Amino acid sequence: IHHASQIVQIVSNGQPYLRGSDPNIKNLKILSKQSPSDNLCIVSINGKIEFIGLDTDENYSNFKNLVYDSKIDATNCSILPGLIDSHTHPVWEGDRINEFKMKLEGATYMDIHKAGGGIHFTVRHTRDASECKLYESLTKRLDNFSKSGTTFVECKSGYGLEWETEYKMLKVLTKAKREYKSIGISNTYLGGHAVPIGKTADEATDDIVENQIPKLRDLIRSNDLEVDNIDVFCEKGVFDVEQTERIMTKALQNIENIKINFHSDELYPLNSVEMAVRLKSKAVSHLEEISDSEIELMSKSETVGILLPTTAIIMQLKRPPARKMLNSGCIIALGSDFNPNAYCYAMPLVMNYACIDLRLSMNEALVAATLNSAFALGVEKSKGSLEIGKDADFVVLNNERWENIIYQMGSHDQLIKYVIVNGQIV
Ligand code: NIG
Ligand code: FE
Repeated sequence: IHHASQIVQIVSNGQPYLRGSDPNIKNLKILSKQSPSDNLCIVSINGKIEFIGLDTDENYSNFKNLVYDSKIDATNCSILPGLIDSHTHPVWEGDRINEFKMKLEGATYMDIHKAGGGIHFTVRHTRDASECKLYESLTKRLDNFSKSGTTFVECKSGYGLEWETEYKMLKVLTKAKREYKSIGISNTYLGGHAVPIGKTADEATDDIVENQIPKLRDLIRSNDLEVDNIDVFCEKGVFDVEQTERIMTKALQNIENIKINFHSDELYPLNSVEMAVRLKSKAVSHLEEISDSEIELMSKSETVGILLPTTAIIMQLKRPPARKMLNSGCIIALGSDFNPNAYCYAMPLVMNYACIDLRLSMNEALVAATLNSAFALGVEKSKGSLEIGKDADFVVLNNERWENIIYQMGSHDQLIKYVIVNGQIV
């Protein structure tokens, strides 16, 4: 890529994440073109970043005379690390447009859920859908993520509430992770997304612990499934902290390298962060109801708080105390939470809401949507910042200043000129 006006590197200096408030004043290194003749460029070879800087730099001489598959002219453009969406639910049939109307008229998420709608509505349609149909709708959604600048995305199962459908969803996700090269994927088993109708939460926990996790373990061992994380919807009226801990502990004991990453403190304060930190969870999502003592615990841990600002707005929830978390030194990431209840693919909009509604600085929002999301998913060694040796995942913006990705609310489809994953334009 040649002639860029700005290149935003997040220089982690060997740190796997950036903690606390305005973490990147020192670490957000922005290279800018000083004179019209400057040629600011990035070189990628075999999908990895090999050089970032001016072509007058002596290190560039190694790359000057190589023959490249493609050259991108980035005159008047800025270049950002690819965005990383650390929380989505993209495998399902059965949208909830009708419930959107009900919610605008005053129904709450839990009212609809308890009446057999909500997640249960989507579960019925997902159980009926073929693997082929689910793969087709998943890949369309993956394309929509990448059109919005996302180059790596966490994807959850969770609309089965029984093994057969969970297995179907995980097969679809494994196929996408292996074959769909235009976006990187981290797969999450969310067997405990809701309590199936007709069962108690204890019975559902037993089924996950005694039946589903052993099956999952065998299929991961035999290389039929690739699953990176385990999630539970830990919430009042869904799975409590003890049931969540039973599921997580069983997964840790059975599945090598599985990472804990769960929903909690969204609608009611459950004080689940103590358990999360004790089990060395990679992340806890939502956290609208996180308490001061939980913030204190989180700030001393490497458990990431994944904030989902679009969901808090769509559901009109109390907002997570993002400033307090950042000022206390927590590691904050951002996700879209794309799902049939909160239908948003676009990390640029998530970053905009994070700034306007949760009071993050633009630097903080960018770090949360790149390096810290990478850390939450355990891929920080290869993704999340523009550094030599990392994967060549970039967004090229049609504007000289990178902040436009946040400032130009909802205009990312006009702003994003190229999305590049592993050195290939997608
Ligand atoms: O993160 N809270 C649980 N899961 C999703 C909602 C999923 C759904 O309603 O289908 C969330 O908001
Ligand atoms: Fe979610």
